[in-house]
Order: sequence, then structure tokens, then C-alpha cells
Amino acid sequence: MIATVRGARKLEGAIRLPGDKSISHRALILGAVATGRSHVRGLSAGADVQSTVACVRALGAELDGPELTGRGMDGLRAPGAPLDCGNSGTTMRLLAGLLAGQAFTSELIGDESLSRRPMDRVVAPLRQMGAAASWPPLRVGGAAPLRGIEYPMPIASAQVKSAILLAGLYAEGATTVVEPVKTRDHTELMLLSMGADLRVDGQRIEVRRSQQLEPLDIDVPGDFSAAAFWLVAAGLLQGSRVRLESVGVNPNRTAFANILRASGWEIGSARGRTQGGEQVADLDIRPSGVTRPIEVRDGMAAEMIDELPVLAVAATQIAGTSVIAGASELRVKESNRLAAMEEGLLAMGADIVAQDDGWIINGPRRLEGARVQSLGDHRVAMALAVAGLLADGSTEIEDAECVEISYPGFFDHLEYLC
Ligand code: S3P
Repeated sequence: MIATVRGARKLEGAIRLPGDKSISHRALILGAVATGRSHVRGLSAGADVQSTVACVRALGAELDGPELTGRGMDGLRAPGAPLDCGNSGTTMRLLAGLLAGQAFTSELIGDESLSRRPMDRVVAPLRQMGAAASWPPLRVGGAAPLRGIEYPMPIASAQVKSAILLAGLYAEGATTVVEPVKTRDHTELMLLSMGADLRVDGQRIEVRRSQQLEPLDIDVPGDFSAAAFWLVAAGLLQGSRVRLESVGVNPNRTAFANILRASGWEIGSARGRTQGGEQVADLDIRPSGVTRPIEVRDGMAAEMIDELPVLAVAATQIAGTSVIAGASELRVKESNRLAAMEEGLLAMGADIVAQDDGWIINGPRRLEGARVQSLGDHRVAMALAVAGLLADGSTEIEDAECVEISYPGFFDHLEYLC
């Protein structure tokens, strides 16, 4: 599908974002091994989370509306066929960790994009734990019991951290991961709420074997990474007034809002509350007019890794030179996002140069509508749609149906807010 986005004058209205993708995956995977029935309301309807739904069903969990019947720590059944993770790296990496500790072997497969993504980052620590694990293709499990390890992580990745912690639930002794920089901690928060033996000390997380996990009862908050698109668009289009309702504002996810604020954005927060250990609030965005160049350096990128494509779009509208560095991980996401955003924004008249680990962007530049490629990458498609809202004329985005991966109602929300 080709989506056509026209330049907008302002955005107005209140919307409810899809359920947080990271929390949705974790609720399904952990709920599958809980003892008894979990209640999970507001799961993301995106295709990635539906891949996890299909996988946990194949492993024996039952999902009926918000009710998820878990099988207990040792009650999963061997899947009859390879588990299809679709486009979802989180599904593949987290399940690899959980399934490494099972008595049976599982094979995990994915689409063309996922098949190209690095899985050695989970296979190596799982093997250190004594798991049978190989890649490609990704096969894990069948050599339980595992043993705990201390693992200083070479890459900042919440997916890898979570995979090791999930394997640690099945290991003898303590399993400790040490993060180079703090990444999203939804796995830790959820495991704690389920009664796991887990301790967090800064960037050091230790988990021990669990005989059983208590079921969940949660409302999944709106996805902050989906909010990011509207924070940028509404903050830059004069006259906008947008409210995003019930957004997850876990401090490990909201560094992007802070960087926008430092650049002059006005983002208000109302009705702050905590649900199931996660912080939630309504966010209000109004354009501020004053913007300073963006600087993302050193360890900052990991905390806003999914928001960086749309941050690049914001930088095209800010006077001065913005520098986004330390983000080489963007090369191994659903597409090479450094190259994809450089190509799309250059076609629209931006001054952007991709580096090994980020971009240098000079602004402000008036963007012009153009025909651009999403490369089937949902975040690239939505970031370029935001660029289209800020541009003159109309922008045509190829393969735009990929927004379904994380944000099925994206283009409906765009039309409503315009
Ligand atoms: C995620 C972690 C991030 C992020 C992905 C979701 C998670 O990946 O890009 O969209 O839910 O743990 P990495 O931790 O591998 O960077």
C-alpha cells in the first residue's frame, strides 16, 4: 500500500495509543508460565504482539479476550512446528531465553527482515548457561538444567537482558546481568510483580530459579514509542493541541520526551498514576516555537532507540546542527534505520548525513513532499509520515501497511488529528 500524507497546518484532538508493545510481549510470555489465569487488558493489536500470541498458544497457553491461562513453569508443551515470530525481534529473543530452559527443543523462525537480524547476542550467553542453542536457524532447549552466570552485557539491549533473565528463572544458582547503560526494565518490574526472586541494583540485575510465578492482573498502558510521532508533529505545527491519553511513562522509556523538552518542546503531563508497577499519564503537547539543536551522545541512544527515526525528522526543523551519535544499533533493527531515514529525508530536501553510529542534521529546512520508501519498517514509515505532515505538498510512502506491526490505527489517527 502507498500512503499519501499531505502537509498539515495543525493537529488537534485526543487519542488513545495502542497498548505498549514491550509490555504486551512480556505479559504474554510471562503469563504463559504463570500458575493460573492472568488478566491482561489493553494488549497491543499490532502484528508483532499477534506473533507472540500465536507462539504462546502453540506452546500450550490459552488466550480468551483478556484472560490468559498459564501452564506453570514446567507446563509448556513442545510446539508441533517452528514458532513463527514474524517481524518481531522481541518475540524471538525473549522466547529464546524462556525456551532455553525447557526439556524440549524449539525452533524459532521469522520473516525476511527478522531472519537477517543478529541472534548470536542471545545464543552466546545462553550457551554459557549450559543451554543447547544454535543459530542460524535459531534452535534452543532440550538440555536443561541451566546454570546461572554473571554476564557483563557487551551491547545495551533490553531484549538480550530479558532473554538471559528468563533463562535465569530455570537456572541453578544466581543469574546476573550487568548492563552497560540502563535499558527498559519492564521484564524486571513484571517479574517482581509476579513474585520472582529478583534484585535490581542500578545496572546489575540478579534473578534466581522460580518454582512458580503468580498470574498478572494489568492494564497495558499506551505505547510511549507510538506517542513519539505525535510529540514531534504536534510540537512543530503551530496552533496544534494534542492530548495522548494513558501513556506509559516509565522513566526508562521517556528520555526522548526529555530531549525534546531540552530542545524547547512543551510537553505537559496530567493524571499521573501507577498501574501494575508501571507509571502512566496523559500527555499534552503544544508547539513552543523555541528550539535548540539536538544532541544525543555516548550512552543516551539506548534509552530512546525506537524514537530516533522521528527525532531525526524533528532535527530537520531546528535551527543549527543536531548530532545523533552512539546509535549503531539502528543498523540492525527491522531495517537499517540510519540509511533508511537518510534516504527518505534527503529525498524530501533535508540536510542529513548518516554516520557510522548516527546522523548529522542541519536545519531548519523546508521539506518537500516526495515518494519515499519505508523498506517495510514500521518506524521508518511513521517517521516519514510525520515528515510528510511537516512538508509542502504530498508525500507518498511505499509499503506503508507495515505500520500494522506496532500501530494498526496510525493513519486513522493521523486523519483524525489533521
Ligand atoms: C525492546 C527493546 C529494544 C527495542 C524494541 C523492543 C524490548 O530492542 O528496539 O523495539 O521490548 O525489549 P533492543 O533492546 O534489542 O535494542
